[in-house]
Amino acid sequence: MITSGWKDFETLESHIAREQTMHPESRGVFSNLLRRIGLATKIISSKVQRAGLVDVLGKEGAVNVQGEEQMKLDVLANEVVKATLGWMPPIGGFGTEEEEQVTLFERHEGEGQYVVMFDPLDGSSNIDANVSVGTIFSIHRRISTGPKPELRDFLQPGHRQVAAGYVIYGSSTMFVYTTGRGVHGFTLDPEIGEYILSHENIRIPDRCHCFSSNDSNYSKWDEGTKKFADHIRYSKQGRYANVTSRYIGSLVSDFHRNLLYGGVFMYPADAKTGKGKLRLLYELAPVAMLAEQAGGTASDGKQRILDIQPTEVHQRVPVVIGNKEEVELYEEFVRKCQE
Ligand code: AHG
Ligand code: MN
Ligand code: MN
Repeated sequence: MITSGWKDFETLESHIAREQTMHPESRGVFSNLLRRIGLATKIISSKVQRAGLVDVLGKEGAVNVQGEEQMKLDVLANEVVKATLGWMPPIGGFGTEEEEQVTLFERHEGEGQYVVMFDPLDGSSNIDANVSVGTIFSIHRRISTGPKPELRDFLQPGHRQVAAGYVIYGSSTMFVYTTGRGVHGFTLDPEIGEYILSHENIRIPDRCHCFSSNDSNYSKWDEGTKKFADHIRYSKQGRYANVTSRYIGSLVSDFHRNLLYGGVFMYPADAKTGKGKLRLLYELAPVAMLAEQAGGTASDGKQRILDIQPTEVHQRVPVVIGNKEEVELYEEFVRKCQE
C-alpha cells in the first residue's frame, strides 16, 4: 500500500500544530506566524532554484545599509518576506538586513505581540555561482506595551528568542527551526510543495569533523585566534587527527554542514577594529539558539552569543560556533593570550 510507509508522514504544518498542543492556552497565532515564514521561504526557493532562468541573477546596482552590493535576489527575497508577513496582525514589526530602519506597525489591542528579524538572503555573493544560500529568521515577543513596538523590542538578548531558524536553498531546500524544544529539519518536496520532516531532533555530533573559517583573514586575527586555528588544523592528533577544512562563504551552509557533521565555524574579530563581520540580531542569535538547542554553543570569544545585550539593529560581533568542546577551547586560547 503506497501509504504504508507514510505512517509518520509529518509536515512542517503538522509539526507546528503538534508543538502548539504543548501550549494549551495558545490560540495558534504564533503557529500561523511560523507557517507564513514557511510560505515565504517556499516562494524564495522557487526563485533561487530558477535563478539562472529568470532575471534575478546579478547585482541590483544598489548598495544596502551594510554598504554591501545588493544582489537582485537580496532585494527580491526581502520583498517576498515583507509581502508575506507584513500584513499579519501578530507581527508588531520587523527588521531586515536589507533596510536601515526597522518597520513598526500599529495593531489593535492584543495584536502585534511579536517582532521578527530576517536575513532574507544569506550568502548572496554566491548566487551567480550557484552555491547554496539561505534565509535566516529570529522571533521575539515584544516587551513594550504601547500601540507600536519600540527599538527595545528588537534589541533583546538572543536567549529571549521564542523561535529561530533558517532555510537552506541547496541541493534540496530545507527548513530548520527551533522553538526551544529541540531542532527539527524539514525537506521541501517540490512535487507537493510541502516541507516534510526529515531530520527530527538534530543533535550536533560530538566530533570536530570540519573547521570552517575564511583563512584569507588570518593575518588580521589576534594571537589567541591564530593559536586556536593552528591547534585545530595542525595538531593532527586525538580529536583533531582527521579534521578537514570547509568554507562556503554562506553562514547558513557552513553552519548547516557543521550541525549535521560536527565541527566549528568562526568569523573572528579583526584584531585592529575588534569588530566581527556577522550581524548579531538576524544571523548569529538565531543560529546560536539552534546550536545550543542541538547540544553545541556559540561565543564571541568571551561570552555566549545568546547573552550579548544588543545595542543596535545591525550590530556585528565576532563568532565561534559549533561543538561545545571547540568553542570552550577557543575561549581558553583567547583568555591565555590576554593574561
Ligand atoms: P549576506 O550574504 O547575508 O551578507 O551574508 C554573508 C555572510 C555570511 O553568510 C558568510 O558566512 C560571510 O558573509 C562570508 O564572509 P566573507 O565573504 O568575508 O568570508
Ligand atoms: Mn547573511
Ligand atoms: Mn543577506
